[in-house]
Amino acid sequence: MEAAAQEGISVQDEAVDKSKFKECNQIAFYRRQKLLHPGKSSYRALLDSVALSDDNVKFQIIHEENKVLLQVEICELEGNIFRLKINEAAPLRARYEVPDVLIKEPTTQRLSISHKEAGILVLKSVNEEYKLQVTANPFQIELQSTDGIVLSMNSNGLLYFEHLQPPPSDSKTTAENKEEAASDSSKEKQEDLGLWQEKFGSFLDIKAHGPSSVGMDFSLHGFEHVYGIPQHTETLLLKNTSDGDAYRLYNLDIFGHKIHDKIGIYGSVPFLLAHKPNRTSGIFWLNSSETLVDISTKAVAEHVPSRSTAETAKQRVLPRTDVRWMSESGIIDAFLLMGPTAFDVFKQFAELTGTQALPPLFSLGYHQCRWNYEDEQDVKAVDAGFDEHDIPYDVIWLDIEHTDGKRYFTWDKKKFQNPKRMQELLRKKKRKLVVIVDPHIKVDPTYTLYSQGKDKGYFVKDRNGQDFEGICWPGSSCYLDFTNPEVRKWYADQFAFKTYKGSTNILFVWNDMNEPSVFRGAELTMQKDAVHYSSWEHREVHNLYGFYQQMATADGLIKRSLGKERPFVLTRSFFAGSQKYGAVWTGDNTAEWEYLKISIPMLLTISIAGISFCGADVGGFIGDPEPELLVRWYQAGAYQPFFRGHSNMESKRREPWLFGEKNTQIIREAIRERYVLLPYLYTLFYRAHTAAEPVMRPLWIEFPSKIDTFGVENEYMLGNALLVHPVTEREVRTVSVLLPGSEEIWYDFRKFKQVEAAGTLKIPVTLENIPVFQRGGTVIPLKTRAGKSTEWMIDISYELHVAPDTEGYAKGELYLDDGHSFQYLHEKQFLHQKFTFHKQVLSSSCTDEKGQYLTTCIVERVIILGLGQQPMSVATCLKDGKEKEVVFTYDTKTFVLTLEKLALNVGADWEIHIK
Ligand code: GLC
Repeated sequence: MEAAAQEGISVQDEAVDKSKFKECNQIAFYRRQKLLHPGKSSYRALLDSVALSDDNVKFQIIHEENKVLLQVEICELEGNIFRLKINEAAPLRARYEVPDVLIKEPTTQRLSISHKEAGILVLKSVNEEYKLQVTANPFQIELQSTDGIVLSMNSNGLLYFEHLQPPPSDSKTTAENKEEAASDSSKEKQEDLGLWQEKFGSFLDIKAHGPSSVGMDFSLHGFEHVYGIPQHTETLLLKNTSDGDAYRLYNLDIFGHKIHDKIGIYGSVPFLLAHKPNRTSGIFWLNSSETLVDISTKAVAEHVPSRSTAETAKQRVLPRTDVRWMSESGIIDAFLLMGPTAFDVFKQFAELTGTQALPPLFSLGYHQCRWNYEDEQDVKAVDAGFDEHDIPYDVIWLDIEHTDGKRYFTWDKKKFQNPKRMQELLRKKKRKLVVIVDPHIKVDPTYTLYSQGKDKGYFVKDRNGQDFEGICWPGSSCYLDFTNPEVRKWYADQFAFKTYKGSTNILFVWNDMNEPSVFRGAELTMQKDAVHYSSWEHREVHNLYGFYQQMATADGLIKRSLGKERPFVLTRSFFAGSQKYGAVWTGDNTAEWEYLKISIPMLLTISIAGISFCGADVGGFIGDPEPELLVRWYQAGAYQPFFRGHSNMESKRREPWLFGEKNTQIIREAIRERYVLLPYLYTLFYRAHTAAEPVMRPLWIEFPSKIDTFGVENEYMLGNALLVHPVTEREVRTVSVLLPGSEEIWYDFRKFKQVEAAGTLKIPVTLENIPVFQRGGTVIPLKTRAGKSTEWMIDISYELHVAPDTEGYAKGELYLDDGHSFQYLHEKQFLHQKFTFHKQVLSSSCTDEKGQYLTTCIVERVIILGLGQQPMSVATCLKDGKEKEVVFTYDTKTFVLTLEKLALNVGADWEIHIK
């Protein structure tokens, strides 16, 4: 190991030390905002200035004390979304407005004025379902639906907007300056407020443009359950922050992050969801600077307006959740997603930020990673190990040591003498390679990437205009400025096969350390006063840095294939919209039971914030898991979207066969279950891609009226059909599983037996597997067996598990394409079949989207669960009317009907009649 890397590791190890990271009260803009207490807002709306256009309603508001005018813009967007933008009416200079996150300029609809009187303006949505009531003094906005008030803004008077000012020396007379210098206490106060500079330990952040913080409160009426705003090692349900730290959204590299902590780690999505039985709403706070979110839920007496003159107005006590967003800089740009269902909210968020990219099929297989697979020989041996132990896997990963001295896009020539040969071997095995490509570039004039980056001026600058230098894995490094479109294009070109020597089309990419991580930097990241493209300070764009790197990398992989192939890029840092570029993982977790447990709410939170393709390091990155923990982690990971085993350099080797025959067998089984389930999982990803439905879902999304599901985070739904309850404790014999919905039927996924009744059940468990249940009313497509990798499984036949509901009805679907190209999009080369089971007939028919994909693959087996009666006969019926008797078995104990040796083309329309 190189000295520089060693240094890096020790710096990282120290990072567990929380004193390296700020507590909320060490953040100046937070302290400043907190000086403003709930109460009467100092802002008053100037309703005379109201201007209504096709796109928006604009008016000004004034701060009663400093008289600064702000411009308010309210838009209604297509699909039940409202947008509220607040900026200075005449800022000294432009304030940062987040670019590139919204997939397009949203389509606006014309709001109309329904009512205007002294001090009140009421706007009506196009469909007349919503009203926005603007009160002038104090300024506040209420968003009402036909059944009452949903959201109000600034009702606690916490609208906060620091207008840009000239630096003190410009604005004050020399005499004034002298006077100030003389007054020590005033100087102290100034520093404490951190207006023009802010200290943290030995770090000094100089704020060239002075204070520019913005914030506002939102009240969610009738809501006491709120979710989202990843990433924290926290519970699914957001907690009240009244007596503690606010949730921090600031991308940081925290090695071995603590559990139950609101400090920001790696990625940020400033999107919050609120849910109550008949409504889900969302708030998307589009701001990429450091952001803090305070949450407080309380019961409040609300005034219920009388419906008729005869009825007197009533008071009722309702829960209300107040959410206060505070950002260091930028403008206020808030999107209010009105649902009304959770699935509507997901669609609305996707309308704004895009949907999950459809992953290449291989990337849904199992990934084997480690820091590091040493050399070509090691890669070969690990690859062979999977075959010897008959364990499927798709991808082997190379961490930083594969490069020549942490110079990304190069190879360590001693360890990887012939990378192409190595990839050819993997290709023959129908497997892939992923290599790490971090954003920092080693300062080394002989390294082309560095010298080109330097010559072209592509690195982020420090406040003095020099290339910003920080320490990372290679030692002294510069950081590419991915916020510059020209840098992104150049970076994307680095992935061209002829430029990236030794790369082939089975090589895919892992972007790490892109918060960005800067060892020895303030909070281990880049100084906020560093300067980016167009002179924006780092403070404005911090949470976007990783988003942009992944964007450029994904683009590079698409480009190298001349636009034909889907990329796979894993990123550690992310922002709203990162779903468009690939997958994310939860970073450096620890090989302890608690981390396995917390990975479930963490992944659920990321999933509902739009990023379906997410996972946690299986086994735990830091340390050595006891075998039982490793087994349990594989079993959980097999039912999570991104499934990768990874371990730290100092961890012992962890290939799945190193833990004794029995454990190997159980892990093998878990991975095989994953492979067998891939048709279902791939179909779920297609739905995430086309309809923004999260792949991994909190229970409440599927059971929105069942209050007992709202806080559940130890189990989840995979799609709408499978309920998964990982085992996250040592040596347990039973687990308590909630099977929601008294009117639901649940079936054991492996034994097919119907569960006696829904509710909370004690389910016996052994080490062999974790509880998984299929929900009545669903049909799940699977493969009949696993293969060595996804590519080996193309021709393996399918199997359908039909689980009828109380009405004897079930439905499901299967999406299928070549698994790697964009032909599904450009040429409509895909197959999308729907399955319905109704009145003893199972039918397969093409969905409305007419795709074409030729396959000879068949449905070979159909298992129908909970069939009350043994059939007399079963026959298949093809489109041409041809009927054929099917041999079947019926288990009178479990009521399971099994049809085997079918040969129904998976892409054809057919029926199975049970008589
Ligand atoms: C970071 C990553 C980890 C990786 C290591 C070395 O700690 O989170 O996954 O193995 O860097 O690249």
